[in-house]
Amino acid sequence: MSENPVRQFYDQLTADYHLIYQDWDAGIARQGAALDQLITAQLGATAQTVLDCACGIGTQAIGLAQRGHRVTGSDLSPAAAARAVREAGTRGVALPTTAADMRQLPFRATSFDAVLCADNALPHLLTAEDVHAALTDMHRVLRADGLLLLSIRPYEQARLTHPTTTPLQVSHTPAGRTITFQLWNWHADGQRYDVEHVQLLPEGDAWTSRVRRTTYWALTREQLTGFVIDAGFTEPTWHRPEDSGFFQPLLTARSR
Ligand SMILES: C[S@@+](CC[C@H](N)C(=O)[O-])C[C@H]1O[C@@H](n2cnc3c(N)ncnc32)[C@H](O)[C@@H]1O
Repeated sequence: MSENPVRQFYDQLTADYHLIYQDWDAGIARQGAALDQLITAQLGATAQTVLDCACGIGTQAIGLAQRGHRVTGSDLSPAAAARAVREAGTRGVALPTTAADMRQLPFRATSFDAVLCADNALPHLLTAEDVHAALTDMHRVLRADGLLLLSIRPYEQARLTHPTTTPLQVSHTPAGRTITFQLWNWHADGQRYDVEHVQLLPEGDAWTSRVRRTTYWALTREQLTGFVIDAGFTEPTWHRPEDSGFFQPLLTARSR
């Protein structure tokens, strides 16, 4: 079993990860379209080389590959990175992936036109040093004038109200409905919180539960903007979901 608790969390979740979506393929298409628009608006309407450095099982990476980009995936979880390759193959697109920590990316400098880190992956890093290390390495692997795309939960309200649960997500499977929700336990600093990630799976007339645990740093957009500038990026710009079509607030910045 892995020493890194985040890797362990996602290795264990890999087989069930798609169940957090009502319809994972629709999510892939929707997110791919929104990200493609952002990339096209900044880099032009040609195929770009994209690194998704927290690709997971491939939600955004597959969507972008389906839109013609040459996407490489990396992720801390070897199980998730391996599933991303299989899922991409099933859908007829190529997605080479590797298991890697975003703080130490195994790619040469200036290798990519765009680097993506989506769906609240960065807040798994719990210290300013770790966030800085990750953003600095994303900057290193981007070509001059490349594009960073980073999405996180909108934490501003949560930092004020410290919610203890998330809404139920219901996914329909051949075996019946699956329910996913999270219990949040806030640390004394008011910024970090432990998560119990609960999935209820149908088993005849009863439910089987799966509970996995991890920790997040609820970074505000202002905090993250500061980290991105410190790492050497310019033109940090936040895109609201209602404008971008992406389901989370998304930051773009340039490696000029
Ligand atoms: C919420 S999941 C999102 C995955 C993927 N972007 C998607 O939406 O399907 C967060 C991902 O971040 C990855 N992750 C967390 N910490 C990481 C790190 N230090 N380096 C690389 N990946 C990391 C996890 O393994 C997980 O796959």
